[in-house]
Amino acid sequence: MNIREKKQELLNKLYEPYKNCILCPLGTLGRKNVVFGEGNPDADLMFIGEAPGRDEDEQGKPFVGMSGQLLNKALEIAGINRQDIFITNIVKCRPPNNRLPTELESTTCKGILLYNQIRIIKPKIICTLGSHALNSLMVTTKGEPLKITKVRGKIIQRDKITLLPIYHPAYILRNRSELITFVNDIKLAKALTDETK
Ligand code: URA
Repeated sequence: MNIREKKQELLNKLYEPYKNCILCPLGTLGRKNVVFGEGNPDADLMFIGEAPGRDEDEQGKPFVGMSGQLLNKALEIAGINRQDIFITNIVKCRPPNNRLPTELESTTCKGILLYNQIRIIKPKIICTLGSHALNSLMVTTKGEPLKITKVRGKIIQRDKITLLPIYHPAYILRNRSELITFVNDIKLAKALTDETK
């Protein structure tokens, strides 16, 4: 069994107990699918969004709706194959009416799933999409939440992982003039990933 197969097996084992998870309120608020994430289990580059939306909940896959289509386009322009990376969210279940995940929901889900996914996949670069994903991963930072408009495109070093905060594609759908910034940030993520090889 090669590394990729081994990591996939570890991910499958990780997900097994949570297929009908009710450890946080999102498990009982109408969720259809737990959206664990998808992609290369041995990826050097990982993207982390906020939470599944309606399309993701329906299909059980991350970033397949409008935001996902924009993300796909940006990945393509940056020369990244979606199959080579791993994409997931801070919380794996859709919050009703697409509200923000609560602190309890994020903390619970990160503890059981996201942190273990990161431990198994061991990406070199993590791109957080939007403010929620960034601040949810930066919980140990003292004081005010980080402002995505200030820190996007700037590298944050955390232990052995390089974090690159970028805008959320849903924000780009509402602010088309930032599309170039978004694509350039993804190109930077690719360049940083290539440097590690
Ligand atoms: N928005 C997110 O944050 N994640 C998805 O999977 C889809 C939309």
